[in-house]
Amino acid sequence: MRPKAGAFGQGRLETLSLSGLSFPEHQRRFMSGRDDAWRGPTEFETIAHANKPFSLRVPALMVTRGKDGTLNIMLCMWFTPMGAEPSSFLIAVDRKTKSYELLLETKEFVIAAPEESMLDIAVYAGSVSGYTEDKWRASGLTPLRARFVNVPLVSEALANVEFEIARMLPFDHKYDLVVGLVRACHVKSAHFRHGIYLEGATPLLWLGKESGVTRTDKAATSHAAGLGRTWMADHDSPLLRRIPKRQP
Ligand SMILES: Cc1cc2nc3c(=O)[nH]c(=O)nc-3n(C[C@H](O)[C@H](O)[C@H](O)COP(=O)(O)O)c2cc1C
Repeated sequence: MRPKAGAFGQGRLETLSLSGLSFPEHQRRFMSGRDDAWRGPTEFETIAHANKPFSLRVPALMVTRGKDGTLNIMLCMWFTPMGAEPSSFLIAVDRKTKSYELLLETKEFVIAAPEESMLDIAVYAGSVSGYTEDKWRASGLTPLRARFVNVPLVSEALANVEFEIARMLPFDHKYDLVVGLVRACHVKSAHFRHGIYLEGATPLLWLGKESGVTRTDKAATSHAAGLGRTWMADHDSPLLRRIPKRQP
């Protein structure tokens, strides 16, 4: 049965009736949610956070700059590239963040792809707010002049992307969906060839935090990865000691 023309466009969900159609036995059992012949997923364990298996990717260090020149960094993982022409990114941004305030002010930002030695900076940028600390200064990052925006690129990163904001869409009580149009993408020649990471490249890959290990230390178990290995953040390092501990 075909959905009526225009039904989806009008925001209605069409339910297709399956009566009258014939399916093989195994498909019917699958559709009815019964299959006694299937064994249980014994080689799997159930975990609380569905993002973990898909977490192995380069986090974005978002750089923002206020009208008065204030610089800020925040760690972002709730983003996705979106569309090729024009090339754009969609990022969910918490309205309580300092970054959100600066995005509203200037409608520009940069995202930097951290090198693996920047794990501390990534954890710090995701744990402390620019409302309470000058994260840019504490991180000791080196600013480089961008081509199109007034926000600096990060010299230490493996890549930097310049964005102008096309839209900021309120999503729920907490987040705006920020659509950034790519103005320029800069990659370090020593780590990329034809736009692809080279084998010896050292991007930081973010694995997240172990869940359920300790309730008292918000950032005790941040894990990172390089290409082919994983390690834990050193929470005794000078930068990460600055992260306030959560009260039990
Ligand atoms: C792994 C990770 C990913 C995060 N991704 C996002 C994100 O995509 N959007 C967001 O608003 N906050 C994200 N956060 C939280 C912010 O980084 C955090 O609230 C930060 O302190 C905000 O900094 P700011 O107030 O200086 O902008 C993330 C945190 C972590 C640890």
